[in-house]
Amino acid sequence: MFENLQPAPPDAILGLTDAYLADPNPDKINLGVGVYQDEHGETPVLHSVKSAEQRLVDSEATKSYRPIEGAPEYRQAVQRLLLGDASADTAPRGIVTAGTPGGTGALRVAADYLADRHGGLTLWLPDPTWPNHPSVFEAAGLPIRTYPYFDPAANALAFEPLIDALTAAPAGDVVLLHGCCHNPTGIDPTSDQWAAIAGVLAERGLLPLVDFAYQGFGDGLESDAVGFRTLAEHNAEVMACTSYSKNFGLYRERVGALTVLAASDEDAQNVLGHVKRVIRRNYSNPPSHGESVVSTILDNAQLRSQWEAELAGMRERIHAMRRLLASGLDARGVSLSPNGNGFITRQRGMFSFTGLSKPQVARLRDRHAIYMVGSGRINVAGIREANVERLCDAIARERG
Ligand code: LMR
Repeated sequence: MFENLQPAPPDAILGLTDAYLADPNPDKINLGVGVYQDEHGETPVLHSVKSAEQRLVDSEATKSYRPIEGAPEYRQAVQRLLLGDASADTAPRGIVTAGTPGGTGALRVAADYLADRHGGLTLWLPDPTWPNHPSVFEAAGLPIRTYPYFDPAANALAFEPLIDALTAAPAGDVVLLHGCCHNPTGIDPTSDQWAAIAGVLAERGLLPLVDFAYQGFGDGLESDAVGFRTLAEHNAEVMACTSYSKNFGLYRERVGALTVLAASDEDAQNVLGHVKRVIRRNYSNPPSHGESVVSTILDNAQLRSQWEAELAGMRERIHAMRRLLASGLDARGVSLSPNGNGFITRQRGMFSFTGLSKPQVARLRDRHAIYMVGSGRINVAGIREANVERLCDAIARERG
């Protein structure tokens, strides 16, 4: 059966990590996968996570199965992060959450649920988007279309084309939006733009599906949730896929969640019932360790404030590296956009969409051992004081 199989292409993002690790160049720079790196190029376990894990080792009494939808304390913690501590129980509506293996797991569960229960709808993705989005939704059999998101000339949100496309989308379709720190562009709607988008979705009867993987990496836990909360104010029904890979540094523990807001508790419970069937036939029930770490931290005031400080530290280092990159390029007279390098510091989250072309990206990799995604997306957290000069020199050379 296997002898006529052709090799599969490497993954656009995770395949880059393999290539980077295999590169013997001691000065190689990894700006590929969206994993936070500190000033030493390392991705250490957060102190708050270590403390929570110690508590779990001391207190955990069983390894028996979790419920299909994950632990109740974790599901509540997810809802509080999404909606804010104060507002979680104010709205008279339904809300349900299922823990999933990472944000990708949440997306696939959402995709399977939509394909299963609401056949005939189309899923709208922003153009550009995370390269894994089309694969996940296509695998579930959902038809996909795209809406404009990025205006390369202005290096900004293509707001009017976006609104026009959503206004023309058929009622009942699903629109995927990045909750914050859009991957790959780093460009988010302003709060007024979020309100306009939320209004169009409500008017047109489109279901928002929010991919929310970077809460706390933009401007802060609360300000990064403005998009989701605005959508939730205008739309009775909203789905959100959250990930705690980045903001808790729990990448390999695979911890995420699918949350569904509905007009009533009865509706929400019905959705959860079908979501549980999707989960059961797929991976049965979620891994527990990451969920327990997240809820242990969020349920303990001291661990929570330690975690928030660590998250702020990651965010601020990324902001500082944005400034360093922009000023390093300025100093070399290199401008990555017709309007200068200011866009680098305006973008939010881990990524910068540099405008570097595919051939330039290939030359940076082949000649300088600098790894970035083919679209020109860089992980700003891969920049350090120790490598920024080399990076700017290489960009200056290959851009010219
Ligand atoms: C990324 O975009 O680099 C991250 O979301 C990691 C991944 O799984 O692709």
